[in-house]
Amino acid sequence: MKAVKTAWFCNSCGAESPKWSGRCPACGEWNTMVEEKIRPEKKSRTLGPSSCSRISSPVPVSEIASDEEPRIKMPSSELNRVLGGGLVPGSIILIGGEPGIGKSTLVLQNILSIKSRTILYVSGEESAKQIKMRADRIGRPSENVFIVCETSLQNIEEHISNIQPGLVIIDSIQTIASDDLESVAGSVSQVRECASRLLKYAKESSVPIMLIGHITKDGNLAGPKVLEHIVDAVLHFEGDGQHIYRLLRAIKNRFGSTSELGIYEMCQRGLREVKNPSEMLLSTHTDGEDLSGISIGVTMEGIRSFLIEVQALVSTAAYGTPQRSVNGFDSKRMNMLLAVLEKRAGFKLAAKDVFLNIAGGLKVNDPALDLAVICSVLSSNIDIPIPHTTCITGEVGLSGEIRPVGRIEQRIREAEKLGMDTILIPRGNLKGIDTSSFSIRIIEIAKVEEALRTLF
Ligand code: TYD
Ligand code: MG
Repeated sequence: MKAVKTAWFCNSCGAESPKWSGRCPACGEWNTMVEEKIRPEKKSRTLGPSSCSRISSPVPVSEIASDEEPRIKMPSSELNRVLGGGLVPGSIILIGGEPGIGKSTLVLQNILSIKSRTILYVSGEESAKQIKMRADRIGRPSENVFIVCETSLQNIEEHISNIQPGLVIIDSIQTIASDDLESVAGSVSQVRECASRLLKYAKESSVPIMLIGHITKDGNLAGPKVLEHIVDAVLHFEGDGQHIYRLLRAIKNRFGSTSELGIYEMCQRGLREVKNPSEMLLSTHTDGEDLSGISIGVTMEGIRSFLIEVQALVSTAAYGTPQRSVNGFDSKRMNMLLAVLEKRAGFKLAAKDVFLNIAGGLKVNDPALDLAVICSVLSSNIDIPIPHTTCITGEVGLSGEIRPVGRIEQRIREAEKLGMDTILIPRGNLKGIDTSSFSIRIIEIAKVEEALRTLF
């Protein structure tokens, strides 16, 4: 019997080493080496017309034709925007997310609406029947989507050369394995090998590939970090089980910005795009009742602005140590804002429990939400509501000064569009904007105290 060789692979950078070490010799990370069985390298088959022996010659950049193939528009405009305007031919995209978040649904729903090209959907997780059931639920039967349940890379390559698809989906990269390697599917060497073989195919054939990837408990994509380096774009599909909203963000994108955010809602019949996030985030205010502890902030995600509800609850601490509980906002930042409130506005919150929540399950790290957080905390503390037609934007500095925020005009327009009648903005933002062009009442604020005096 042929002896099975083993080698050690780094989980982080994918480096191979013949022996174990506590620290990866290549990237220096600790505790990342895992043992895997290997078989002597076979010459791998290649797909497509070109072969490895062909030597490419360098070309001056000015002579490279820039009339690229147009991007492949995906049916979902949210996905298109996050991708930077559609799929680039020959690119390889990785979509990561927790189990059950809706990755397969997102991809399936999109490909079922593409009529212009043949699509091969390779599933290593579900049977063709299960996928068909899901497709029926989403409700769009399609002639040009081929489904195959396969986990062997060699067989997948075979299917690709038979079908000659215009788009390939692999669900998921952790379930497929190459026969050339001894290690199990999902291991560092397998993920690296499969991804690089698929990359080679994508680049040679100009066929885009979408990979679905699992993420680990701590939120990183499972498998080696090299996987993220290999692919052209990494998208994260996130959201929490309690909320029906799902967010799609680009973590890496070679062909577009990484600041874009796509918002979906999980419904009975698949995912629905949320075109106007503000409406979803302000839904509780439709009855027009003002409640204390609620303020409306204007935040930006990528190039989109939207209004978001900040909810705070301040109550007398039942135990000696007051609790600070935060959802959707940085807890350190909230502690800083509470300290500013105490020092600059004279409110004693040291003996109070403070709970803060950003409505809709969204995680926001736009500092322009600072002032809205402060106002909601104070509103709850003194039990005086802020009118629901007032919104607030501004970053708060340590001395209680309100700092200017980016894209102020866009924020004001969004507030106006959603029927707000008053907006508090930093005084520093007044320069350069024409306030007479807005119908909304604009109140300029330079200090935290001024904001509080205006509102309460
Ligand atoms: P799925 O796409 O299988 O998640 P992933 O591929 O990320 O593991 O999504 C599964 C979840 O989505 C499941 O909990 C049920 C829910 N879902 C709906 O609510 N409505 C639908 O129409 C579909 C297809 C799924
Ligand atoms: Mg799935």
